[in-house]
Amino acid sequence: MIALKTEAELEVVAENAQLLARILGELAAAVRPGVTTAELDRRAEERIRAAGAEPAFKGYHGYPAALCASVNDEIVHGIPSDRRLREGDIVSLDLGLKRGGYYADAALTVGVGRIAPEAERLLAVARGALREAIRAAKVGGYSSDLSHAIGTYVERHGFFVVREFVGHGIGRELHEDPQIPNFGEPGQGIVLREGMVLCPEPMVKGDDLPVRIRSDGWTAVTGSGSLAAHYEEMVVVTAEGPWVVTGWIGEAVCRRKT
Ligand code: MF3
Ligand code: CO
Repeated sequence: MIALKTEAELEVVAENAQLLARILGELAAAVRPGVTTAELDRRAEERIRAAGAEPAFKGYHGYPAALCASVNDEIVHGIPSDRRLREGDIVSLDLGLKRGGYYADAALTVGVGRIAPEAERLLAVARGALREAIRAAKVGGYSSDLSHAIGTYVERHGFFVVREFVGHGIGRELHEDPQIPNFGEPGQGIVLREGMVLCPEPMVKGDDLPVRIRSDGWTAVTGSGSLAAHYEEMVVVTAEGPWVVTGWIGEAVCRRKT
């Protein structure tokens, strides 16, 4: 059932992932007080099309933009708008593209100017959870090992995971099996094999209440208004271990800023 990618397919997947990582890095670098999320969306779509690719999210189940830009208590699927980012906000940028028949999908959260220490901690915990998930992407392991790694890491650090949305496989479709929830017991789901491409995407927040969806039908927000962070990378399962084809974009952006 799960598509294993050949070497030739993985070359395309990796090229697309690297293109996406470059664009996301550029968007992250453009985040500053006064910028609107619609400006970031326009730039994202321009860069995607200039590279001969297509935005993956635009038109997906009717989603109206190339980029998802989720600010503060918005978790995922924030629709770009004329809202200006302000010093101290955090913004999650989630972007997808398709080229040569294959999808790429990644996300990261960045601070706008200086942010509160508790917000920095949230971002660091979400990045740490993604790191743990990727380490679990091993031949012979189980897809739920990634879920378990995310859930335990996040709760050990005093935050909560989003249970309503999941990570996923990726390839000729944006969302392929297996689903990768942000919590669960290890040793369940599917057995990981060489050539699988996975998108773990920890969504981390400060409360354990159910997620709410705004009246726009898309924007997912935390139940209490607590801040939320979201990181997603693409990892290929190989005999030599996890291959992060997006190149740790979230970590790279964080290092550049400090
Ligand atoms: N990264 C998101 C995901 O994996 C994609 C956004 S959904 C969309 O589900 F509808 F906005 F495209
Ligand atoms: Co995704």
